[in-house]
Amino acid sequence: MIRELAYLRVASPRHEDWVAYATEVLGCQLAPRGTDGSVRLRVDDAAHRITIAPGEEDAFEGAGWGFANETELAAYVERLRGAGLTVTEGTPEECADRAVAGMWWVTDPWGNRHEFVWGQHRHPGTFWPGRRISGFVSDDFGLGHIVLIAPSMAEADAFYGDLLGFTLSDRVNEEFMKVRFYHCNGRHHSLGVAEVPGTVGFNHLMLEVRDLDDVGTGYDLAREKGHPIVRALGRHTNDLMTSFYMSTPSSFQIEYGCGGLVVDDRTWVASTNDRPSLWGHELTDWGRHNPPGILNKFEAAAR
Ligand SMILES: [Fe+2]
Repeated sequence: MIRELAYLRVASPRHEDWVAYATEVLGCQLAPRGTDGSVRLRVDDAAHRITIAPGEEDAFEGAGWGFANETELAAYVERLRGAGLTVTEGTPEECADRAVAGMWWVTDPWGNRHEFVWGQHRHPGTFWPGRRISGFVSDDFGLGHIVLIAPSMAEADAFYGDLLGFTLSDRVNEEFMKVRFYHCNGRHHSLGVAEVPGTVGFNHLMLEVRDLDDVGTGYDLAREKGHPIVRALGRHTNDLMTSFYMSTPSSFQIEYGCGGLVVDDRTWVASTNDRPSLWGHELTDWGRHNPPGILNKFEAAAR
């Protein structure tokens, strides 16, 4: 089964802007660039976990999902093929680019690419944050979480839950916002899916830091350096994360928080929350007047 969100890949015309943004605001470390000039970012001892490739428009290029080893990944690929999914093996060049030992990939019903990997390269003891923070909560918990936008929750749940095997953590069921959250390790969710009819998209990446002061100083720096705040500081009902949301140079948002809940599958029971936050997370004026992420009409997606 999937063990973690190993990495995220996006493309953007403003990929160069990530060098300053990621180090000075987020506290990531720069890794050596990709052969195509991609900016690559570290949050722990993994070689790199975030790739921003040069591109003509902002695009979600794919999520990498990590497996414990070659055997588990091979069994998973067989299971997906048995269920009728087309699973393609990554080329040696793709594996080298992602710094993994092996990779297979699929697309979801709306054209989003998901890569399944094992043997991600690590360089123990080499992570050094880009600004003075106490560090990221990552390693065995993976990079963080991503929230995708899909036109149909029923179809999304069939794909991500039944087929890919993510375990439901809980749901938020508001009149105007329906979201399902899934876990694959102790992190409350590594994947969220929000339903927006007719739309496929990538809403945000969550990065968890170790200390509330890291969140607060990140908030100050985002404002100081002109990265729009999308949602003010708040605390989520489900994963208890204290966080804020900012816009990145590439349309999608980063949720920057601390104190996320750790779940234990032996005791965890999925619930339904009628609101996403205990307090705060108020949408700013900027948030109200700009699209919530990288969005595409479903008709334009691959299928
Ligand atoms: Fe989030």
